[in-house]
Amino acid sequence: MRFPLARAKQSFLPHFSVLAILSIILAACGGSSPSSTTDLHPGCTPGSNTQLVKLTSAHKVGWSQNALDGAWRYAEEASIESEATKHGFQLLKTNANNSDNQQVQDIENLINDRPDVLLVDPHTEDAEVKAILDARKACIPVIVVDRDVNESMATPGRDFATFVGSDFQKQGALAADALIEALGGPDSTATIVELTGTTGSSPAILRGGGFDGELAAKAPKIKVVAEQTANFDRATGQQVMATLIQQYPNIKGVFAHNDEMAIGAITALKSAGKLPGKDIQVVSIDGTKDAINLVLAGEEYAVVQSNPRLGPLVFQTLNDYIAGKDLPAWVVQPDKVFKKADGSAQAYLPDAF
Ligand code: AHR
Repeated sequence: MRFPLARAKQSFLPHFSVLAILSIILAACGGSSPSSTTDLHPGCTPGSNTQLVKLTSAHKVGWSQNALDGAWRYAEEASIESEATKHGFQLLKTNANNSDNQQVQDIENLINDRPDVLLVDPHTEDAEVKAILDARKACIPVIVVDRDVNESMATPGRDFATFVGSDFQKQGALAADALIEALGGPDSTATIVELTGTTGSSPAILRGGGFDGELAAKAPKIKVVAEQTANFDRATGQQVMATLIQQYPNIKGVFAHNDEMAIGAITALKSAGKLPGKDIQVVSIDGTKDAINLVLAGEEYAVVQSNPRLGPLVFQTLNDYIAGKDLPAWVVQPDKVFKKADGSAQAYLPDAF
């Protein structure tokens, strides 16, 4: 009876050693096993998780950027990179080039790379939700950054940790206040046009809603005669404005959902023989150096800030999460308004991006 046992023992020992060696090699190569996932994300079962993922430490951070196509995005990217370095995290970066399909693929690829946590700046509100839920299922917690997802499809505090970003609706309302002022006040009967951002993105939806709501409440006789997307892009803003100024030569104001489109629009207005700042008042959102210089030159009335330097708030939030603190559903990045008249544009210029 002892013989089979000895044989069993003999054959078990070499297999055990092979397994042990294999797992040491795997660990050295950065491979992860279900038990390492459980160590970082206690109580989470990869593949089937439906709850908020808890996090006890993090080293590898995935970062899914929706595009790198203008001063705002480059400033945001630099802020995320420098804060990741400052806090000692390894950052795995992707750039979706303004494509929802690409960003979904990027997020799925990042999930396969098994970061400890994922930061996602979604191109639009709905398209990236499934991939974010896939990350949660795989026990990788997500912090949504800058642009929000549709919160009726994914809930902060359950499906993802939190949203860190500006109050886009308030930005739209502040832009309306500035344009009302530029057009002579609440009794103005001016007609204006609105250049909207990427259709389906949270800044386009919320800035548009905040602007329209404030206008209706404070200056109901100002009429928006056209609303057209220019995809947050300077060249497209110029093309769209060139057409709109032919169709509506008597407009007195332009609201652009970002500075890039406003800069393009100002070029088009000048080519059409209009004097921006005199014939037509322009207001936009972001705070780029180019737009602040237009404010100082009197060609743009005001710029509402949308601060792209989200890195400090994002990594502070991540550290709070790791420390087990309760996170709010939304960590708000505060913003200001910059005008020539009150000196705020001049004072902000050295910080503009
Ligand atoms: O999501 C923020 C917006 O995206 C910025 O206003 C814009 O410039 C960028 O494309």
